[in-house]
Amino acid sequence: MFSLSIDQVQSGMKLAKPVFNLTGTLLLDKANVLDDRTISALRNAGAKRIWVTDEGSKFLKEQGPQKFFQNIVTDLEAVRERVILGRPIDVKSVNEISEELVEQIIVNELPFAEMVRMKASENSILEHMVDVAILSIIIGKALELEKLDMRYLCFGALVHDIGQLLVPKEILNKTTPLTNSELKLIRKHPQFGYDMLKNVDGVNRHALKITLQHHERLDGSGYPNGTKAKDIAHFSRIVAIADIYTAIIREKGYRKRMQIHEAGELLWAQAGIGLDRGLTSAFLSSVVAFPLRSTVKLNNGQVGRVIAQNGDFPVRPVIFVDGEMVDLAENPTIFITEVIAYETD
Ligand SMILES: [Fe+2]
Repeated sequence: MFSLSIDQVQSGMKLAKPVFNLTGTLLLDKANVLDDRTISALRNAGAKRIWVTDEGSKFLKEQGPQKFFQNIVTDLEAVRERVILGRPIDVKSVNEISEELVEQIIVNELPFAEMVRMKASENSILEHMVDVAILSIIIGKALELEKLDMRYLCFGALVHDIGQLLVPKEILNKTTPLTNSELKLIRKHPQFGYDMLKNVDGVNRHALKITLQHHERLDGSGYPNGTKAKDIAHFSRIVAIADIYTAIIREKGYRKRMQIHEAGELLWAQAGIGLDRGLTSAFLSSVVAFPLRSTVKLNNGQVGRVIAQNGDFPVRPVIFVDGEMVDLAENPTIFITEVIAYETD
């Protein structure tokens, strides 16, 4: 399933979710196969972005973020092969991937964010690093970072867990509780990664810090060094948030994936304690939260539209539903379970 702008939609694509107009009226139900006439009718009715399935879609196979994502994972395979052989990473190749990924996300953020959000599981460390890189760039974009800084941030995110390649898979994928020595070994992966990269020509200092510090927490409760706030770099703080988020919204072993609102609330509970408050807020507003005018489904089954954000509580906006305004910050038992449609412009 994939979210596309109405201008990218092509005849033959199948709707994955119903399309509503701004007042919540159903325009076209899911499972309908689109043709030129229905696409133009949706456009005329004000639809800007719709969800389509990826079955039989040449566009998505050839040009969509999923294909792009897979190409990056394939490119990173070559990087991994070198690491496993004990050779230095190919900096040029990771630089090229970073440059391309940043360019793509600058122009096409939403499909990438949705792709990361919708995935139920990650198949490898490489996939995880690409997911984290995508989300980190989206935060970078929200923070209006310079393009070069976004590339540095992306490079670091793309290699942040590279030290895990030195931890046996049986330990990383264990579904029973870890022994103390296994836990100790896993907690060394940031140091392993840092040691692997520190003498490689062309690896920038941001990538080194991100690799070493992505499990450090502002209150000193992280690892491997228990580094505290003032010594944890800005980019390391960004990757830490993206890393936690992708971990908790995926199924892993015996652990079920968290729903988006639960993940958002868990991150927010750590804001200002282990995680940078301003960056967590930027992350929740740009990745997790629900943009203004998006159509959302609530846990009570009602469908409404986001009409205002709550600065102090980014995953609990104000919703217009059934002719009433409902402030989710004041109604803790009501929460958003699903985004039905985005209205981005
Ligand atoms: Fe890690």
